[in-house]
Amino acid sequence: MVLISGSGSNLQAMIDAQNRGAPFRIAAVISNRADAFGLERARRHGIPAEVLSHAGYPDRDAYDADLRALIDGYAPGLVLLAGFMRILTPGFVGRYQGRMLNIHPSLLPKFRGLHTHRRALEAGETEHGASVHFVTAELDGGPLVIQARISIRPDEDAESLAARVLGYEHIIYPMAADWFAQGRLRLGEDGLPYLDGSR
Ligand code: GRF
Repeated sequence: MVLISGSGSNLQAMIDAQNRGAPFRIAAVISNRADAFGLERARRHGIPAEVLSHAGYPDRDAYDADLRALIDGYAPGLVLLAGFMRILTPGFVGRYQGRMLNIHPSLLPKFRGLHTHRRALEAGETEHGASVHFVTAELDGGPLVIQARISIRPDEDAESLAARVLGYEHIIYPMAADWFAQGRLRLGEDGLPYLDGSR
């Protein structure tokens, strides 16, 4: 199950991995925006594409309850947030504890939230990257699974940095999904991530 809000290039990377024989099958794609291009990517590959717009909902709890019902209708083993631009309620996050991953375009714990590339440049960082993590109630704060780290070039602007980081996102996110699907990756009861049973 993949949740998106926009272009869906990370979704595309998952679809490509699936088509190359990865040990998972994308049950459906859900977007909170009807105009998300990722929906088109899903349809092209025969993957059910659902829209659950947040417009008209009185609060986050009401939206998340319906989102939960929609997701659970597909009974997915793993929920992947792939550019899903919504803050999720603790109740929602708790329901998928240990089986929901997110990809974030920074070297967490640095630069949680938005505009990570610009902020990394403004902070004078020499390195930047992307992180896959288990989702917990803390925004962009869950246990890390894998990171891609790149050097920032002297002439780099936020746009070129974003494009380069995105290229690495497309590598590490399917890797993490693959590990999870194989049963090699799990979130321990101690709240720590385990790969192959060792940390
Ligand atoms: C990615 O940079 C992801 O890390 C962030 O939102 C962007 C989504 O891009 N959370 P896409 O929709 O997968 O192309």
